[in-house]
Amino acid sequence: MICLLCGDFDPSEEAAWRAAFAAALPQALLWRLDEARATPRAVQVALVANPPPGALQGLPGLRLVQSLWAGVDRLLADATVPAGVPLARMVDPAMNAAMAETALWAVLSLQRGFFTYAANQRAGLWRTHAQRRAQDLRVTVLGQGQMGRTAAAALAARGYNVQGWRRDGQALAPLLASSDVVVNLLPLTDATRGLIDASFLAQLPRGAGLVNLARGAHVVDADLLAALDGGQVGHAVLDVFHTEPLPPGHPYWQHPQVTMLPHAAAFTDPRSAAAVAAANVQAVLGGAPAQALVGAVDRARGY
Ligand code: NAP
Ligand code: GLV
Repeated sequence: MICLLCGDFDPSEEAAWRAAFAAALPQALLWRLDEARATPRAVQVALVANPPPGALQGLPGLRLVQSLWAGVDRLLADATVPAGVPLARMVDPAMNAAMAETALWAVLSLQRGFFTYAANQRAGLWRTHAQRRAQDLRVTVLGQGQMGRTAAAALAARGYNVQGWRRDGQALAPLLASSDVVVNLLPLTDATRGLIDASFLAQLPRGAGLVNLARGAHVVDADLLAALDGGQVGHAVLDVFHTEPLPPGHPYWQHPQVTMLPHAAAFTDPRSAAAVAAANVQAVLGGAPAQALVGAVDRARGY
């Protein structure tokens, strides 16, 4: 079986994927894009992590596109990804657990003011502030899928008052009005792009925290910066950005109320994820319907 393995991997990441797939899918030959281009008819499966636009066109034997990323917004934005081929996103409990750790770190740091203490150290300030309990914080988790549910459970187990939001028609306004911290774990779709704008932020209690672990385009940056500068948002923890890497000189880099990560909230771990992808490959080649795949993407829904 011929699989295209294609993504923005560095050499060590690619080596880790090759080793993991050699164990999980030993019958597969993993081709790079140039090899696939040389004999496009032979490629049956594409295993992709942010492939360059156009990478998946002209592969007439393709039977599965398996994303090695959880979010498929970039794949769905690429009109050349063949619409009739089943598309699955990565669903891996190890990745969910990593995301829950990041959410926990962010919320705990906001609860106890650890970001403020870190800034005070840099400023040479010895200054304490009030010590809040987990029970004092109401945390809203936007998105109750793989990541959101796992993060919400970890936060609730730690003692926070957690509420979740999903696509079930529940009104967002009352949730925002009762949120000391909002954690965003939504997929990026037409319905969620730019959701976190001035009107969204104005509905939060003054000084609330925002934790964006999903996609940069969920946030209207100018609105968030205005809300931070005006004190409506007390602190933002941002893992994801409109442009990545975040360009030098962007106001987030030096903003005293912003803590940044370099899109590192939860990586896919080949040690467990290769087996998840392999099971989908075996299923599709065995004739399973697209809906039976783990992480089957509903293109109409956008996630
Ligand atoms: P998922 O399992 O597909 O869950 C998506 C959740 O969002 C579902 O609960 C869904 O509602 C809800 N949702 C979708 N559209 C909505 C809308 N318009 N209004 C309200 N709720 C809506 O996705 P996941 O695996 O948890 O991943 C979520 C996102 O995390 C990914 O798409 C990706 O962008 C991001 N991510 C980031 C990193 C990182 O390192 N920063 C790593 C992995 C993933 P229903 O339950 O009603 O369907
Ligand atoms: C990372 O952002 C992912 O979607 O897996």
